[in-house]
Amino acid sequence: MERLTTPDLNWLADPEIFEVNRIKAHSDHDFFSSKTGKNSLKQNLNGTWRIHTEPSLATANFDFSDPNFNYQEFDYIQVPSHLQTTGFDEHQYVNTQYPWDGHEDLRPPKVPQNNKVASYIKTFELAENLHDKPVYISFQGVATAFFVWLNGHFVGYSEDSFTPNDFELTDYLVSGTNYLAVQVFKYSSSSWIEDQDFWRLNGIFRDVYLYATPKAHLFDLNVTASLDDTYQNGILELNATIHGDLSDKKLHVALLDQKQEIAYETNQPLLEHTKVTHKLDQVHPWSAENPSLYTLELSLLDKDGKVLEYIPQKIGFRRFELRNNIMYLNDQRIVFKGVNRHEFDPIHGRAITKADMLWDIKFMKRHNINAVRTSHYPNQTYWYKLCDEYGIYLIDEANLESHGSWQKLGECEPSWNVPGNLPEWQATCLDRANSMYERDKNHPSVLIWSLGNESYAGTDILAMRELLRHKDPTRLVHYEGVTWNREFDEITDIESRMYAKPHEIEEYLTNDPQKPYISCEYMHAMGNSVGGLKLYTDLEKYAHYQGGFIWDYIDQALYQDVDGKKRLAYGGDFNDRPSDYEFCGNGLVFADRTISPKAQEVKHLYADVKLKPDKTGVTLTNDRLFADTSDSFFVAKVLQDGKVVWQKELNLVVKAQTSKHFEIDFPLPTEGEIVYEVEQRLKHDTLWAKTGFEINFGQALIKKDIPTFEATNTPKVVIGDVNVGVSGENFEVLLSKDKGGIVSLKYSGKEYVTRTPQLVFWRPMTDNDRGCGHGFDRAMWLSAGKFARVTDLKVTNQKHAVNVTYTYELPLPKKVLVTVSYTVDGTGKVNVTANYPGQADLPSLPTFGLEFKLPKQLTQLKYYGRGPAENYLDRNVGARLGIFETTAKDNLTPYLVPQETGLHCDVRRLALSDETAQGIKISANGQPFSASLLPYSTMMLEEALHQDELPPVRFTWLRLLASQMGVGGDDSWGAPVHEQYWLSANKPLELSFTIEPFA
Ligand code: GAL
Ligand code: MG
Repeated sequence: MERLTTPDLNWLADPEIFEVNRIKAHSDHDFFSSKTGKNSLKQNLNGTWRIHTEPSLATANFDFSDPNFNYQEFDYIQVPSHLQTTGFDEHQYVNTQYPWDGHEDLRPPKVPQNNKVASYIKTFELAENLHDKPVYISFQGVATAFFVWLNGHFVGYSEDSFTPNDFELTDYLVSGTNYLAVQVFKYSSSSWIEDQDFWRLNGIFRDVYLYATPKAHLFDLNVTASLDDTYQNGILELNATIHGDLSDKKLHVALLDQKQEIAYETNQPLLEHTKVTHKLDQVHPWSAENPSLYTLELSLLDKDGKVLEYIPQKIGFRRFELRNNIMYLNDQRIVFKGVNRHEFDPIHGRAITKADMLWDIKFMKRHNINAVRTSHYPNQTYWYKLCDEYGIYLIDEANLESHGSWQKLGECEPSWNVPGNLPEWQATCLDRANSMYERDKNHPSVLIWSLGNESYAGTDILAMRELLRHKDPTRLVHYEGVTWNREFDEITDIESRMYAKPHEIEEYLTNDPQKPYISCEYMHAMGNSVGGLKLYTDLEKYAHYQGGFIWDYIDQALYQDVDGKKRLAYGGDFNDRPSDYEFCGNGLVFADRTISPKAQEVKHLYADVKLKPDKTGVTLTNDRLFADTSDSFFVAKVLQDGKVVWQKELNLVVKAQTSKHFEIDFPLPTEGEIVYEVEQRLKHDTLWAKTGFEINFGQALIKKDIPTFEATNTPKVVIGDVNVGVSGENFEVLLSKDKGGIVSLKYSGKEYVTRTPQLVFWRPMTDNDRGCGHGFDRAMWLSAGKFARVTDLKVTNQKHAVNVTYTYELPLPKKVLVTVSYTVDGTGKVNVTANYPGQADLPSLPTFGLEFKLPKQLTQLKYYGRGPAENYLDRNVGARLGIFETTAKDNLTPYLVPQETGLHCDVRRLALSDETAQGIKISANGQPFSASLLPYSTMMLEEALHQDELPPVRFTWLRLLASQMGVGGDDSWGAPVHEQYWLSANKPLELSFTIEPFA
């Protein structure tokens, strides 16, 4: 095609023009001018560029066709980066609504007036090894549309923020300084189909480099490495597209195995289209479990055998297919234990670094995550290389989302939806699918192509499917959008849903499913969430259930400086309006990559090897597809009252897809509570963890033994007018007739009570609570504790003790009387028992227990209960029984919006102390309780919208609870916590524990 030599601003709002002079999409293979791999044909253009921004097209009328254009006044910027993270534009976070909603009245394909233009300048001298060859420039990612000039010549135009855009520069290069100008537009018609739920970041945010091509150049490589019907032997087919001068040249192909030994070799005459096929006996197939890669070495040789170009390409032999409506990898039914991942870090936004990617992949492998959906766009190439190498299955998703065009305020309203069936949008959609396919097709990690996210359905997306079907019969096509328009059901090979409830999925699975099922998004991990994950992983027993992808991997929050302090900010914090506020934070890890407690549950439920100890040994169930457990060693432990009293290392080998019981000579101590535990640990170092790293664990409570309170040593009792005083050696307790409870607890002269503990029925609302109307439904419990009044008080003398029982009436529409009783013995032990009697016709309780306002110094917590990370009724199978230590501060999880946090279920005893190790012990009386220690009270956490709004720490707050309802996680916009994790108001609840001084 003829090159266009003048740019036209009308292209911006024309969906039919999405590229001008762009080089055809091609594979992302590396190429070198010699076999040493050193003499690269690339020249990096990352680094310092010059920049100038204008608020709109109206003022941004620079003339870059003038090669002497004066840019001396321009600012400096580091490329790659976003304009918003470098201070050249304002931040804005919106979910489905378009960022201009309410500001400008627009319909597709119009572009807002308020369209920031960034003009970038980069000067460079062409590196020596690029001389005298065709030279190209590659922009790996620019949002959302841009023009390029070199030395005053117009080079090209492109859209699609997330796939490479290459242009040829050869004719415009000069010797000496070259002057490259790039004009980037914040919005273009493509903004209508890049409406992903994310920060609206733009600019040149991925690598920019030049490359030269030798006389003959591998333009595109298309490798399929599959398996034959025995699933043992490999079938290699490679199609090379060569550009340049092909005469008298040869293609040398060598296939190296994992030991770098040549497994196959051939020489072919060099043709524009060269095809090589070969069958290789007994290959090591690629899978996430065994990511065995081979290296395909291609050398383009001249007639004397000199290397003109050398291409090392990693490949993996694997076969992914649909059989009987079930997805199989290498002949095994696959289950995706997946997460959705946005590219994100709190400094660079989506311009993430290699270090970020390495961190991410290690995190995933360490947490038994085996799959990633690249939500919602093709990622940086390096990520695919990591997934090939470390072993992660990918759903590679095209950059297409038009959410705000068909869904408004939650309702499906596609009257002006794009792309739909509109012919003028089809080519750009196809181009997006094609650019993704061509770049990523050689990565064994990519099993599934996704046509985009939340773009409704129509003939344009159907055409994308046809394109991929035709180009790539070795993979499946995924698209969830048809759930909104079943007329186009044929678009997707997989029945994929978002946030479907376990029972809805089960209904599909048990009604003759015609497609395999996945949840492309489930378990909305916003704030304190991921409750009930087990209800989904339990569905793995159905053959057509092939897993799900948690929404999502990382919070999208950005560092912001407030009063000289750095914080993680969310939507609205930059005065961005409209905004969807904290909805950008749904991660298993925080934006700064601190691991959240939600990951503990995911790791356990996603583990392939399940461990079930019993009295005589352990049953190991190996759900892996291929690998036995010889990569692991096992540690059997006996815990007596939480302490490890016996342990033994074992080698236990179970084949993939089988289950086996192994005898273990566990001792059974006669005293105390006994737990048997077996851990699976890595036997060798891997890319992602060291020898000894724990992969999973299992526990069994062999003997439950939670002692009950028994009074000893009769105390001295003073019945005053206002207080009942109870004392003995080294202790004194005051129980107030006026304040409704204990007002003083002194051990060795030290006071532990600052105020009478309060009844609590409320927990600081979680994001999920807010989303499902929990506040409206259960509001009466918010004040139930705070405004409860004492209606009765009884003092009774008991054997070795005195008991004071308070009766509270709750401010509720039904009469509910709660008792809190204190029994103090002669040793200073204080048993506290709170009883909720149960009452019909009230909403279920968020929680029930007592909240203590303790002296600030009592920050150290040691407990025997479930840990180490916080856990809840519906999120505690990944937490184990044991003895753990934390502090009030560390026990608080810094969710973007402060909310319920820090709870530990099944606590038997705990010790609270200051830094000098003075303090109190609290033990469960007959039945375990839940506990949290925090620097803030329920009400403080309830009120704050950011962590930095929480007041200075003046006290330590201890909550001891009979129980607390689950946190939920099906979604954060209406899904209630599953009823089995509620505290029904009908049923009585009892909290009982004993306080005593340190011995
Ligand atoms: C989904 C969407 C995601 C995200 C999520 C809510 O509908 O695909 O991009 O918006 O909801 O956090
Ligand atoms: Mg969306």
